[in-house]
Amino acid sequence: MAARRRVERQDGDPAGRGGTEAREAIAGSLAGRVVLVTGGTSGIGRVSAREIARFGASVLIVGRYPDRTRSVAEALRLESGNPSVFDFAADLSLQSEVAHLAREVRDRFPRLDVLINNAGAIYSTRQETPEGHERTWSLNVLAPFLLIRLLEDRLRAAPNARVVNVSSAAHRGARVDLGDPERRHRYSGFGAYGQSKLALLLLTYEWARRLSGTKVCANALHPGFVSTRFGRANPGLFGRGIALAEFLFGISAERGARTTVFLATSPRVDGVSGRYFVRSGERRSSRASHDRDLALALFQLCWEQTQPFSAAAPAT
Ligand SMILES: NC(=O)c1ccc[n+]([C@@H]2O[C@H](COP(=O)([O-])OP(=O)(O)OC[C@H]3O[C@@H](n4cnc5c(N)ncnc54)[C@H](OP(=O)(O)O)[C@@H]3O)[C@@H](O)[C@H]2O)c1
Repeated sequence: MAARRRVERQDGDPAGRGGTEAREAIAGSLAGRVVLVTGGTSGIGRVSAREIARFGASVLIVGRYPDRTRSVAEALRLESGNPSVFDFAADLSLQSEVAHLAREVRDRFPRLDVLINNAGAIYSTRQETPEGHERTWSLNVLAPFLLIRLLEDRLRAAPNARVVNVSSAAHRGARVDLGDPERRHRYSGFGAYGQSKLALLLLTYEWARRLSGTKVCANALHPGFVSTRFGRANPGLFGRGIALAEFLFGISAERGARTTVFLATSPRVDGVSGRYFVRSGERRSSRASHDRDLALALFQLCWEQTQPFSAAAPAT
C-alpha cells in the first residue's frame, strides 16, 4: 500500500552518495532482485545500471544497437564486479520492438522488481516511425506505457516492485494537446519533448492510482540538467547548442543518476507511490501534471494506441 508520508531530501543519502552501512543494507536487500533499465547504454541510465549492479541486483539493460548494448553490458559487469548484467536490444520508438523486448524478459524472468523507464530523446524536426507515430511521443510516452502494461504481472509477482519513470523539469510550462498529441500541425522539438515529459508524469500518477492496493509503486523524477549524449545527435545549431549548454552547465552523469538509483533502491521510499522527485527529495510537480481528467483521457489514449501490441498483456 502507498505510504502518505512526504520524503524529504537527506544529505548523505545511502542510495546516492556513500554511507557504508546503509549501502551494505541496500546491497543485502537487492541481492536476487531483477532490475530493468531502458537506455542503459549511455548517460544517466548507464550509471544507474552500474550502481544498481554494484548493489548485487540482476540488471537488464536495453539499448537500440545489439553490439553496443552487448559491449556496455560487458563493461558494466567489469565495473560493478557483478556478472548478472544482461543486454537486450530494442528500438523502443517501435512498439513491435517494445513488445518483443517484453516477451524476452517475460520468458526469462518470472518476476521484475524494478522497471526504470529511462530511455528518452528530443528531436529538432518532426519524424515518424515506420509504425506511423511521431518519434518523441512513441519513445518517451508510448514505450514506457506499453512496457508497464506488458510487464505488470511480472511486477506484481515481486514482493515490493517499483516503476521509476525518468521525466524532466521540462514538463513545467508544457501542455498535453489531446487533439494533436503527435504534433501533426505545429511541431517544435522542445514543445514535443516538454509535452512528452508532462504526459509521462500524468501517466505515472495514473498508474500509481491504478496500482494502489498492490505492492507495485510508481514514481517519477527529474535528474537535473546532466551532461550526457542527450540531444547531441540532432543536426546543426540545435544539437550543438544542447552540447554546449551541457558542457557549460550540466552536472555529471554520476550526479544525474542519483535520484534514479535512490528511487530504485532506497528503503526510504518503500511503499511511496505517485510522487515526483528531484535531488532524491519529493517535489510538487506542475499543476497541469495533477489534472486527473487529463490523466484519465491520456491513459485511455495510450491504452488504445498500444492495444495492437498488447497481446501478451495480462488482463487487468
Ligand atoms: N540530460 C539531461 O539533462 C536530462 C534532463 C532531464 C531529463 N532527462 C531524461 O533522462 C533520460 C536519459 O537521458 P540521458 O541524458 O542519459 O541521455 P543519453 O545519454 O542520450 O541516453 C539516452 C539513452 O536512451 C537510449 N535510447 C535513445 N533512443 C532510443 C530508442 N529509440 N530505443 C532504445 N533506446 C534508446 C540510448 O541508447 P542507444 O543510443 O544505445 O540506443 C541511451 O542509452 C531521458 O529520458 C531524458 O529525457 C535528461
